[in-house]
Amino acid sequence: MSKVFEMDHPLIQHKLSFIRDKETGAKEFRELVKEISMLLAYEVTRDLPLEEIEIETPICKTKTKVLAGRKVAIIPILRAGLGMVDGFLNLLPAAKVGHIGLYRDPETLEPVEYYCKLPSDVPERDLIVVDPMLATGGSANAAIKFIKDRGATSIRLVCLIGCPEGIAAVQKTHPDVDIYIASIDEKLNDHAYIVPGLGDAGDRLFGTK
Ligand code: URA
Repeated sequence: MSKVFEMDHPLIQHKLSFIRDKETGAKEFRELVKEISMLLAYEVTRDLPLEEIEIETPICKTKTKVLAGRKVAIIPILRAGLGMVDGFLNLLPAAKVGHIGLYRDPETLEPVEYYCKLPSDVPERDLIVVDPMLATGGSANAAIKFIKDRGATSIRLVCLIGCPEGIAAVQKTHPDVDIYIASIDEKLNDHAYIVPGLGDAGDRLFGTK
C-alpha cells in the first residue's frame, strides 16, 4: 500500500486558507499556488539520495554532499497542474517537464488521453505528477497509467487538496505511488467537487468560468 503524506507545515496551511477563499482573485490565486507548490516541492524531495563529493572552499578542501540518483521530471496533468509547475521548477531547476492531457469521454465517462509529451528518458527518472485537486482520482489514475505504459517506474503524486475518496482510488489502482497532499478535505459532493475545497482549480487559476 502506498503512503499518504499530509503536508501540514504552517506556511502551507496559511496559504491554503487564502486559495480556498472565494474572494481571492486569479492573480493572487496563481501566486499562492506557486508558493504552496514550492513548499510542497521542498517536502516531497526530503528523501532524495545524496552523495559525497570533494570541493575546495576558499579556506580548504572539504567533503560535501550533492544530489545523487535519478533525475527528476515534473508531470502536470493539464490544465490545472500547470499552476504547480513553476513552484517545483524554482526548487528543481534542472527537472524536465512532461505534460499529460486528459478529457472524460461523455458516453463512457472514461478518461481519454488527448496529449502526452514526456521526456524520452522517463524510465530512468523520478516522476512527480502534479494536479491541484485529487477528487475522484479518475484523472490521476489514468495519467499514472499512461506514464507507466511509457515505462515509468518511480512516480509520486502531489496535490494541494484531496479527499478520502480520491486517495483511496489512487491507492487501490497504484499501490506503488506515494501521495503528497497539503490538505485532506472532508468529502466529494454530488458534482464531484471537493468539500470544502476551493472550487474549480483550473477556472480559478486561469480566470475562466
Ligand atoms: N477539480 C477541481 O478543480 N475542484 C474540485 O473540487 C474537484 C475537481
